[in-house]
Amino acid sequence: MLSGVTSDTAGYNGSFLGPTMKWTTGSTVLLNITNDLDADTSVHFHGAHIPADMDGGPQNAFAAGESWSPTFEILDEAKTLWYHPHALGTTAEQVVHGLAGLIIVEDDSDASAALPSEYGVDDIPLVLQCLATDSAGDIKYDLTGYLQNTLSFPVLCNGTNVDDTTLTFTATKTRTRFRVLNASPSDIITVQRGDGGTLTQIATEQGYLTSATEVESIRLVAGGRAEFVMDLSDAVTLQAVITTGWVRGGSGTYDFLTVTPDASDSPDDLPSSLNTIERYDTSSFTAREITLDQDGLEMAINGAVGTTMDSMATIMTALGSKEVWTITNTTMLEHSFHLHDVPFQLIEINGAEPAGVDLGWFDTYEVVGGGSIKIAMEFTDFADDTYMYMLHCHLLQHEDEGMMAGLMVMES
Ligand code: C2O
Ligand code: CU
Repeated sequence: MLSGVTSDTAGYNGSFLGPTMKWTTGSTVLLNITNDLDADTSVHFHGAHIPADMDGGPQNAFAAGESWSPTFEILDEAKTLWYHPHALGTTAEQVVHGLAGLIIVEDDSDASAALPSEYGVDDIPLVLQCLATDSAGDIKYDLTGYLQNTLSFPVLCNGTNVDDTTLTFTATKTRTRFRVLNASPSDIITVQRGDGGTLTQIATEQGYLTSATEVESIRLVAGGRAEFVMDLSDAVTLQAVITTGWVRGGSGTYDFLTVTPDASDSPDDLPSSLNTIERYDTSSFTAREITLDQDGLEMAINGAVGTTMDSMATIMTALGSKEVWTITNTTMLEHSFHLHDVPFQLIEINGAEPAGVDLGWFDTYEVVGGGSIKIAMEFTDFADDTYMYMLHCHLLQHEDEGMMAGLMVMES
């Protein structure tokens, strides 16, 4: 975390972060997970459309020394997901110490065939984190920790502190694809080019856009992901602009990666169409109101502080239900709304119609202080009357403080 001091960390199959998993659409995954921590944990597959009892939410938590072996079929199409702990009250602590990893879902679509996909060669993971540490290197995660006055806020790319170091990558192909995840507990990260050029965004967090879109920057709230490509003839430095998401946090612009091309190939033009996205006509959808609330130090959804399974609000719905939710932020704080199980489309953002990359599919989206979003989704494939999916703020401290509700999708 900081040079000259040692930090306690955690990881999957290692000391910090975890391996990238590749899942293929239509295949079946089996994971054997052993909890070597000294606390309960769960492993949640963020953004995956899988049964509720395999989702890795709080009801799937397992104790120190125990194992959990989820298995499920991959119904998702090509996209970039991630995995992280999700036990009640300990998510921020466990994630900031390093429990996070990427999941790449591969499919056999024409778009996938046309895009770079050789991991580590022309398909590059970028796991960005802005953490809080004291001068001894101790990583902080809760209010008491964040309010200490000796903190620094290191920015990490793939586990390396980039405050003073800019990582380097030699691209042996002219076109490189990047998959970027904001795995910070709360800070907002905006990715841009240091030379002011555009990024060619190809996917939001739940799959390809209808076509590649030139963007000046990509703003990711906690938990958000995106994919972009760059066709390079000269070196380019990527920058992360950090904005505090919580009571305190990082700030500033960090050069995190310089990509230097060493390639002589000339890639084909990107396909003019990457995906077909039928926009929902929500006129016959069931409407629901969700409020993100605060009561002193407690956080709530629909007035209920979701720190236990009994205290949290539960949204009950039926398999096949098509819904349009208005999510209203009644606080003046920043929130990152995340829904498990199915992707959603944005119908309105603070009263305005979405445009550009906001017409893609999402599972996590910013709700600014006093703002609101309207989203639409369809609950398909999986019903369970015991296990719930979750909806919550992905600022992990807010989630742990109770801004979480259950979602039960039942047969009827
Ligand atoms: Cu990334 Cu409910 O979590
Ligand atoms: Cu929040």
